Amino acid sequence: MTDVLKIENLHVAVEGKPILKGVNLTIKRGEIHALMGPNGSGKSTLGFAIMGHPNYEITAGSIHLNDQDVLEMAVDERARAGLFLALQRPVSIPGVRLADFLRHATTNVRNPDRKEGEELIPMREFRKEIKDKMNHLSMDMEFARRYVNDGFSGGEMKRAEILQLAMLQPKFAILDETDSGLDADAVRLASQSIADIGGENMGLLIITHHDKLLEHNPPQFAHVMLGGKIVETGTVKLAQELHTDGYDRIRKAYPEAAAAELEMNEEEVSPAV
Ligand SMILES: Nc1ncnc2c1ncn2[C@@H]1O[C@H](COP(=O)(O)OP(=O)(O)OP(=O)(O)O)[C@@H](O)[C@H]1O
Ligand SMILES: [Mg+2]
Repeated sequence: MTDVLKIENLHVAVEGKPILKGVNLTIKRGEIHALMGPNGSGKSTLGFAIMGHPNYEITAGSIHLNDQDVLEMAVDERARAGLFLALQRPVSIPGVRLADFLRHATTNVRNPDRKEGEELIPMREFRKEIKDKMNHLSMDMEFARRYVNDGFSGGEMKRAEILQLAMLQPKFAILDETDSGLDADAVRLASQSIADIGGENMGLLIITHHDKLLEHNPPQFAHVMLGGKIVETGTVKLAQELHTDGYDRIRKAYPEAAAAELEMNEEEVSPAV
């Protein structure tokens, strides 16, 4: 049976402010979906909500991975169940080396029942695997000895996310602007690498403002988010149209979502004292 990630009528609020207002999205393992939409429309919020970030409160709706209720699962359980989010802005973890971090994470994902303190993947096995994957990504092994994202350049952070993807082999991966900050060669390498890693074994949700990442990962579905809702779903043609023409047509076609967008962007004006 193909694994299915199903999001239904999802409403999410941040600090009491409604951001997502009824998102429906179904991704089957092996499919590629592109998620586009103007700045602030709620794309990253969807990623955080799926992974269980504590600041993102689910006020209605559901997320299921097959018959498992994802909203009932802790963040690490979601990762062990095969969900992965590559962050738009990766966080640094000074004091934790990338290799150690990946060895822990990979062990946990491969042995979902492992308890803290139990054995990790044997060092030799792990080193060989990470070396192969880093070679493939044109990353220097020295990199794995550095602290996670600490002083990494923008491009290095994004590459480290792809290395994580390669090691963890999740069932479903949300890639939030994995192309941002990459130079032209790096984005081509990232696009190719994601295609090599993903293939039929992964369901991909690629959030992007550009078309380069999609070059080797042609989406079967392209979705447009506006004002906290997916207002239109099409094929790769829709993604190309938005890249070329922007969102004017979408705003005109979905006035209710466009109004929600305006409302979300309104600055709260503090009353004069
Ligand atoms: N932790 C937070 N605290 C306050 N506001 C938030 C938080 N997270 C999201 N928001 C607000 O929710 C809205 C949607 O943000 P989100 O990051 O999901 O947009 P996005 O579609 O990913 O935009 P971009 O294309 O710029 O990355 C914005 O108005 C943003 O300011
Ligand atoms: Mg974002």
